[in-house]
Amino acid sequence: MINIAVFVSGRGSNLKAIFEQIKLGNLPANISAVVSNKKGCGAIHFAVDKNIPTFIIVNSKDEKFASYRKLENFLSGLKIDLIVLAGFLNKIPKEFIELYRNRIINIHPALLPKYGGKGMYGSNVHKAVFENKENISGATVHFVDEIYDNGKIIKQENVDISNVKSPEEIAEKVLKIEHKILPEVIKEFATGIIKFNN
Ligand code: GAR
Repeated sequence: MINIAVFVSGRGSNLKAIFEQIKLGNLPANISAVVSNKKGCGAIHFAVDKNIPTFIIVNSKDEKFASYRKLENFLSGLKIDLIVLAGFLNKIPKEFIELYRNRIINIHPALLPKYGGKGMYGSNVHKAVFENKENISGATVHFVDEIYDNGKIIKQENVDISNVKSPEEIAEKVLKIEHKILPEVIKEFATGIIKFNN
């Protein structure tokens, strides 16, 4: 059993997918905390409803650094093994990344290294994929380092989008894959298929 903290900024469908797999007994993990930079987002409402401890990052220029220091204390008290970015849209300070080096993973709604980098998140990704008339898209789970969408790829899965009529249709197809591969990767950490080795 590993303790995970899930970082979110939006509606929280990936958080819910992880929660469901745990509830079904498929994933030996415990969601010890949900962390967000968006106080009122759907994912935070979900966490509160499920009595999962939450932490809100204050994002103003003056307070962000101090807020991440408080977050470090909060998470160290919870003995977090793995941090899962599930639609978390906030630049993480490099000091925090260093502290959790190789223990932060992210789900990205495209086949990295294509359609990654600054500004490539959420619907922007699917619009770009649609405009380029791609036949295949998919999702990627990767380690997080100091550069957007740059860390080592852990898992990817493709989906055929040759017949789609809109970016929204791509989003829908890709989201199904996200909900599958993100819990799968967490399970690989939890069961020792992927080992924590600094
Ligand atoms: C997901 O599609 C996730 O891949 C994306 O945000 C969405 C969050 O949805 N993340 C990024 O684009 C990060 N670059 P959710 O709140 O329903 O899980």
